[in-house]
Order: sequence, then C-alpha cells, then structure tokens
Amino acid sequence: MGQNSRHASDQSDWWRDAVIYQVYPRSFADGNGDGTGDLAGVRSRLPYLAELGVDAVWFNPWYPSPMADGGYDVADYRDVDPLFGTLAEAETLIAEASRLGIRSIVDIVPNHVSDTHPWFRAALAAAPGSPERDLFHFRPGRGAAGELPPNDWVSEFGGCPWTRTTNPDGGPGEWYLHLFATQQPDLNWAHPQVRWEHESILRFWFDRGAAGVRIDSAALLVKDPALPDFVRGTDPHPFADREELHEIYRSWRAIADSYVGSRILVGEVWLPDAERFARYLRPDELHTAFNFDFMSRPWQADALRASIDATLALHAPVGAPATWVLCNHDITRTVTRYGRGDTRFDFATKTFGTPTDLALGHRRARAAALLSLALPGAVYLYQGEELGLPEVEDLPLDRLQDPMHFRSGGTDPGRDGCRVPLPWSGTAAPYGFSPEGVDPWLPQPADWARLTVEAQSTDPASILTLYREALRIRRDAVGPCGDKFEWLTGHQDVLAFTRGDGFSCVVNLSADPVALPAHTAVLLTSGPLDDGLLPADSAAWLRTG
Ligand code: NOJ
Repeated sequence: MGQNSRHASDQSDWWRDAVIYQVYPRSFADGNGDGTGDLAGVRSRLPYLAELGVDAVWFNPWYPSPMADGGYDVADYRDVDPLFGTLAEAETLIAEASRLGIRSIVDIVPNHVSDTHPWFRAALAAAPGSPERDLFHFRPGRGAAGELPPNDWVSEFGGCPWTRTTNPDGGPGEWYLHLFATQQPDLNWAHPQVRWEHESILRFWFDRGAAGVRIDSAALLVKDPALPDFVRGTDPHPFADREELHEIYRSWRAIADSYVGSRILVGEVWLPDAERFARYLRPDELHTAFNFDFMSRPWQADALRASIDATLALHAPVGAPATWVLCNHDITRTVTRYGRGDTRFDFATKTFGTPTDLALGHRRARAAALLSLALPGAVYLYQGEELGLPEVEDLPLDRLQDPMHFRSGGTDPGRDGCRVPLPWSGTAAPYGFSPEGVDPWLPQPADWARLTVEAQSTDPASILTLYREALRIRRDAVGPCGDKFEWLTGHQDVLAFTRGDGFSCVVNLSADPVALPAHTAVLLTSGPLDDGLLPADSAAWLRTG
C-alpha cells in the first residue's frame, strides 16, 4: 500500500480534507508516442502522483469526442476516445491508482453533448417538433423569415449561442441552443430521458470504481422553458442557478449514497452570489464545489481574508468542506497571474501582451500554495502547478485550439496557454512528455529544462520539493486539526491563522519583512527567511504546541 493508504482505505469522508490533483489527460504524459497525452501515459506516471502524496485525481474528459472544446464535447459518455486509450484501460487505470491509495474522479458533462452525439444526429435528421428534437432546445428563428436567433442570450464563449440548422431540402431550418461552442448543443433538462440517461452514466462510472464525479457547468443545465430574452437582474435567471437544479442533484446524491463507501459529487458552480453557491452544498446535494471566489481574488491580504471568511462562514451551516483552488485548465496559470499588475482572474479581461514579472509570480505562487494547503477543507491542484509552470503566452497562433480564442475574434488568447504538455525530463522539448523527436500537440517553451520533474526532484529549493514537503506535513500536522481555524491579529497585510493548538500559517503580503508569530518550530517556508523574518510574498508553517 502507498503512503496515502490511510486516506484511501478507511476514511469515508476522505474528500473533506483531500488534496485532489487534476489531470488534463491530453497534456499529462504521452504513452503511445503520438504527441498527445493518454491513459497509458497517466498509468506510467502514477508513482509520481503517489510520491507527491495526493489523495485523488480528477481526470478531465477522456470520452470519444471531436475535441471541438478539448473533450467537453462528448460523443459517448460510456467509452474512451481512441486518442487516450480504451474503456478497459480506464478501468485498469482506476484500479491501479486505487492500489496506490489514489481515488479517481471522472468528469461528467451534463449541460451539452457533442454535435456528433447520436442523439443530436437523430435530432437533426428528424423534423421540427419531433421527439428527437425535444431532447435539445430547437426553436424557430425570429424575424420575417426566421433569420434571427430565437433570443438575445450570449454564449459563455462569446457570440451568439444559437446556430441555425439546414432542412433536408437544403432550406434554412430551426435554430438550436448551445451556451458554449456551436458543436456543443445544450440538452433539454426538462425531458425525463435526459435525466435517466445521466443517472445511468453516473452509475456506469461508479460501477467502474470512480470515487466521484466532477460536474461540468453544474449551474447551467436548466433553462426557462420559454427561453425569454435576458433582462439583467431578472430572478430567476433564464439559464443559470435555477431552482429545478437542486432536485436533479438530490437525485444524483441518492445514487452516490447508494454505493458502499463514498462516491462524491463535485460541482463546477460559477456563481457570483456565495449564498446561492452554498445552497448546492446542502447535505442532500453536492459534496463539494470549486471555490472560484478565492481563485479570482487579487494577491492582497484584505481581499483574500474576506474570501476566506466568507467561504468558511457559508460552508459551515450546510456542513460542507470548503475547497481551495488556485487555477485549472480554464484559468491563467498562478505563476503568471500573480506576476501581473492586476492579479485577479477574470475571463473578460484576458488579453495578449500583459506585462508579467514571473520571478515575483513564482514567489507568490509558492506562498499561495502554503496558504491554500493550510486552510480547512480540500485543495485542488492542477497538473503543472506543483512545477511552477507559467502560462505559455507565445504559442504560435496556428497551433491554438481553444474555441474561446476563436469566438472572441482572436482578442482573447484562450486557454491553450495553461494546457501545454508537462515537462518530465531532459533538456529540450518534448522533455520526456513524448518520445524524443515527437512534436506534442501544443509546443513546449524552449526554456522549460529547469522546470522538469527530473530537474526539480533533486533540487531542495524547487517548487516541486516544496509541494512534496507541504503535502507530507499537511497529512500529519494540518489534517488532524479538522475545522479548527482562527485568525491571529497583527499586521493588516499579513494573513496569519492557527489551526488548533499545534499549527499556524503566516503569509506576508506586505512589502516588508515581518516577524513570525509565536512558535516552537518552523515546519516549512515558501522561501528563505531573512534573519529570522518572513520576507514579502512569503509564507511559513509553524508548530505552535
Ligand atoms: C467548463 C470546463 O471546465 C471548460 O473547459 C469547458 O470549456 C466548459 N465547461 C464547457 O464544457
């Protein structure tokens, strides 16, 4: 059994304080040498994840897909894309990971399917008003000849979320709704078949050993059946956070709870209102949801303190653990974001050519790692974060794949820059990601030799060493503190808190070195102390008992 066996074997509430590592399979490791990461690659690197000390892995979608949106356009929810391997291999991977004490969380995409999904193909082939079309949102257009979209909504990826179909006779037909890309038609969640299908998909993956599911776009599934124009401030919103969702997740929770041992539901819930967010975490709904509020905040003590306070205050009444997320496959990488003048994250403000101080961002990313790993709750760690990878901002334009980039008319750099294949070893691309001579699906920078797992593993000052140490200490010193959390008073630009009697964390977001609070030993620091003082943009973990 691996070092995580304590978490894996005897804790049904393992997810409450788990460290969950996000694997973007396309960019993790290429086992078959075709330039794209795959399940064989993940299997070969499981020992790396076990050594890092993570409790679970969340896999981004691995289903058959035309990859119009990196696999979030699913053609078959019960299989694996040949690009990644086979269904049998996914089962083997889940079993092998489990033997190393690592649980597997599978990504479920219920809001939409691929336009190549058999249901959508059948809907296109069927007539307006047919039962096949009823599984989606087909509508006639507005305007004299139906030439205008049925309403004024805006796609989550920008542009119009409606695409007009062509009738069998070649004439223009109805429109269908897609909140994301054209190739991602939205399902009609008012239809019972859509519900049954997803309940069956959940069981399919739980039966194959998945310890949980991550639910994509979890707050968007249900639409106002009238599909009205969007009027700002209207309550309820026509397509986000609708009351009917809670009933759906209650039925999913009942399925998860029907399994021996725990199966968890993790929601991707983007909602500006934290109280509305917490409603998804009531005891009979989702187990946890990503805390995007924390992730979106600037690197400023008051902003982060406010987010931590609000998060803990809103999770406590529903009995759900908080989660702490610094980045993921949609978000500008932490090292880059924290190296900018504006350290917030906001999809709307992403542009090319933002000046960035990567050394500063790296220092802050190290401190942020110790901050998030010391807070009560679960932590999500996106592959490459433990290597301090920056966003790759100079990808050749002809290699970009993200529909967000294309739908913005080219002004938004898109999300490819945080999805560049991991550097494992060696001094030149493909850095052990693929066999030598193979060009990975996205090119890796020429200066990543110092960021490889190999280079960092033997460097005591590397961010990888910091993460390994932090995860080890977290298990023994932070884990037992449960929910205990209390701020220490002091400098307003310093975040300092205790977790029970034995442990405290201090993060210096001020411009000057500060004294450490009372302690009996320094367990870990994100960078060297300066004559016993904690320098700016640094964090320390302290033993206090
Ligand atoms: C959220 C996913 O994280 C993102 O990558 C995807 O593009 C959208 N949902 C649509 O599925």
